[in-house]
Amino acid sequence: MSQQLRSFLMAVGVIAGLTAAGYGVAIMGAAVVIGDSHAVVEQSSKSDGWRGVRTGTAGRVSIPDPQAAFLIQSEGEIWRSIRNGPVTVIGAWGMFAILVLLVLFYAWRGRISLAGKPAHREVVRFNGIERFAHWMTATSFIVLALSGLNLLYGRYLFIPVIGKEAFAIVTEAGKLLHNFVAFPFMFGVVLMFVLWVRHNLPSRVDLKWLRQGGGLFSDRHHPAAERFNAGQKAIFWIVVLGGISVSLSGLALLLPFAFPMFGKTFAFLNLFGFGFPETLTSMQEMQLAQLWHSVVSLGLIVVMFAHIYIGTIGMEGAFQAMGSGRVDAAWAEQHHSLWAASAEEAPAEDDAVPSAVREGQG
Ligand code: HEM
Repeated sequence: MSQQLRSFLMAVGVIAGLTAAGYGVAIMGAAVVIGDSHAVVEQSSKSDGWRGVRTGTAGRVSIPDPQAAFLIQSEGEIWRSIRNGPVTVIGAWGMFAILVLLVLFYAWRGRISLAGKPAHREVVRFNGIERFAHWMTATSFIVLALSGLNLLYGRYLFIPVIGKEAFAIVTEAGKLLHNFVAFPFMFGVVLMFVLWVRHNLPSRVDLKWLRQGGGLFSDRHHPAAERFNAGQKAIFWIVVLGGISVSLSGLALLLPFAFPMFGKTFAFLNLFGFGFPETLTSMQEMQLAQLWHSVVSLGLIVVMFAHIYIGTIGMEGAFQAMGSGRVDAAWAEQHHSLWAASAEEAPAEDDAVPSAVREGQG
């Protein structure tokens, strides 16, 4: 079996394993939710009682679902108008704006190419585990982004084309996929953090790199950079912090009412003088989790458009770095001069084939 096939099967195995683990967590979460069931508020008179109902005061229930204690949840209207209003509209403009900017940048700058001749000697840029972590995170992110965007925009884009019935089937399948592909994504973010955090700590070199515009605006200047330049470090931290944030709010949505985290976060922020409400109903917690999840995901998607641009058509040699893991020594020197000197020489292509296989071929 070829090495690529073995790596591919291993990747499929890990993703399937994590997906199965996702089912386990969801089942445990459902048990937690069903176990939680107390919500009692006394009401004095009929009019006070109806006022309470209208403003979201809990009544008394004996069934397991504590949410049934709320007859009217008025904040639901506010949540709906924010979700279908500013979040949807600003998100769409954000994605459109970054695409326009990238097209304009490409039209002006073209592909950033290697200055001078290639050295025809390769160095290792990313090893197998690093590439595995990257592509697992990237693939699952793309599935999550597409199925998530469908939840926000699909009804406007697809119902007129494929009709309500077909849209409902596609969206239900997408939602299931979204729930479970979240687990390989979370695993990928953790793995990338462990593998790359030491290369992404800020340093003085980054300030110089930023002051010189990262060499993005001119072919003559290629500021010195370590293994990751300041732009890449920013992407790393956005992915790690944004990834954690989107994962926590996603888990709060996946396991409804099991992780109320906004009240506690607000209480913490209020220590620094903010005036956020600290006592939230469990439904308000869910609404905030949903809004936060959408906003952070849209932000990550916008940033990823730029990342994918520079990793593909934007810069010669970049895709190869994450594809084969090897780059030409001249590319390493041009883009990451402070790292290039210590980079490991890549074995000749033939040496990459295990000796047993080579002997068999002979
Ligand atoms: C089709 C999609 C993608 C492509 C083509 C791509 C391409 C690349 C390439 C070529 C590099 C290496 C750059 C170098 O040699 O210095 C890289 C690095 C990286 N990628 Fe991606 N990527 C994609 C999607 C993603 C996604 C979805 C994430 C996270 C959600 C991600 C996170 C990262 C991080 C953290 C790094 C290291 C820092 C950096 O180089 O910016 N990538 N990617």
